[in-house]
Amino acid sequence: MKTVPNGLVKGRVLARKQWTEKLFSLEINAPVEKYLPGQFTKLGLTNEQGEWVRRAYSMVNHPGHAYGHDHLEFLIIADDNGQLSPKLHKLNEGDEVYVGQKPSGFMTLDEIPDYAKDLWLLSTGTAIGPFISMLADPSLKWRFTNITLVHAVRTSDELVYQDAINSLSRNLGDRFQYVTVVSRETHATSLQGRIPLLLASGAIQGKVGRTFIPSESFLYICGNPSMVKDTSQTLTDLGLVKHLRRKPGNFASENYW
Ligand SMILES: Cc1cc2nc3c(=O)[nH]c(=O)nc-3n(C[C@H](O)[C@H](O)[C@H](O)COP(=O)(O)OP(=O)(O)OC[C@H]3O[C@@H](n4cnc5c(N)ncnc54)[C@H](O)[C@@H]3O)c2cc1C
Ligand SMILES: NC(=O)c1ccc[n+]([C@@H]2O[C@H](COP(=O)([O-])OP(=O)(O)OC[C@H]3O[C@@H](n4cnc5c(N)ncnc54)[C@H](OP(=O)(O)O)[C@@H]3O)[C@@H](O)[C@H]2O)c1
Repeated sequence: MKTVPNGLVKGRVLARKQWTEKLFSLEINAPVEKYLPGQFTKLGLTNEQGEWVRRAYSMVNHPGHAYGHDHLEFLIIADDNGQLSPKLHKLNEGDEVYVGQKPSGFMTLDEIPDYAKDLWLLSTGTAIGPFISMLADPSLKWRFTNITLVHAVRTSDELVYQDAINSLSRNLGDRFQYVTVVSRETHATSLQGRIPLLLASGAIQGKVGRTFIPSESFLYICGNPSMVKDTSQTLTDLGLVKHLRRKPGNFASENYW
């Protein structure tokens, strides 16, 4: 094997869970620096030519997890045409995998402006992961008056982490709402369609029973880049403002590719 690049440390797979044929979670132990809920790090392996392939993956578990911040959980979708994700898909308990030592990312709770009391977390596919980490933060108990998690997937079997979400819901009580969107089949308890159109029509807000208040609402948008782009446009059309560190606004985003 070629020399391990700077910044990668050796980790080991502790457990894996298969949600659907392509969607799985890995629990990995690695000596990484402490992360903030919502952040990501790199996972890396070598390819057939011995070259390192590294990609970003978000931690699903909260850093205050009972097993410690060096016990990391990732939700991953294997893209058959991709370089790394099919290799991660083949990993089993006990296998080695390399992990970025220094987590990064600005989609974190401390980046949310103080005035925000109404938090919306909008995700597609595997991008629900960083939101599950954030929702487990103890500050959520007092920091926001309303918290809405929206998860959009193609089929209902991709509505993962139901147990974790039920437990968060019990912990956060009436302030927490969970809205699911399924695009490619009808599902009794989910909206059908895509997030930007369901926001433009008011269907998501209707399901929650609340609308956006520019002086109170803050949204994080994460996942498919075209969803992020279209949702940002819809929110702008609805009178909300993109958040910048130097000029606080209502929404910020993270693209997954
Ligand atoms: C900040 C950040 C956090 C990320 N967190 C996660 C995560 O928690 N879980 C996860 O599965 N992926 C995550 N990704 C995507 C991940 O880094 C890889 O891009 C993905 O696993 C594909 O890598 P690959 O080497 O298999 O494919 P590549 O050889 O790089 O080919 C990738 C192609 O697959 C598509 N693609 C990439 N990622 C995704 C995705 N997640 N869903 C749908 N299509 C995709 C794109 O069309 C892209 O052209 C994240 C990306 C970023 C930038
Ligand atoms: N999910 C699978 O079963 C599956 C199987 C094999 C391979 N893959 C590959 O894995 C990758 C990830 O798939 P994924 O299903 O997790 O993610 P995805 O393709 O981003 O789909 C997740 C959700 O985002 C929606 N979406 C896509 N583009 C959007 C846009 N512009 N605006 C708003 N919503 C949008 C999808 O709706 P639509 O359904 O309307 O697009 C779907 O509800 C893809 O590269 C895919 O090719 C996925």
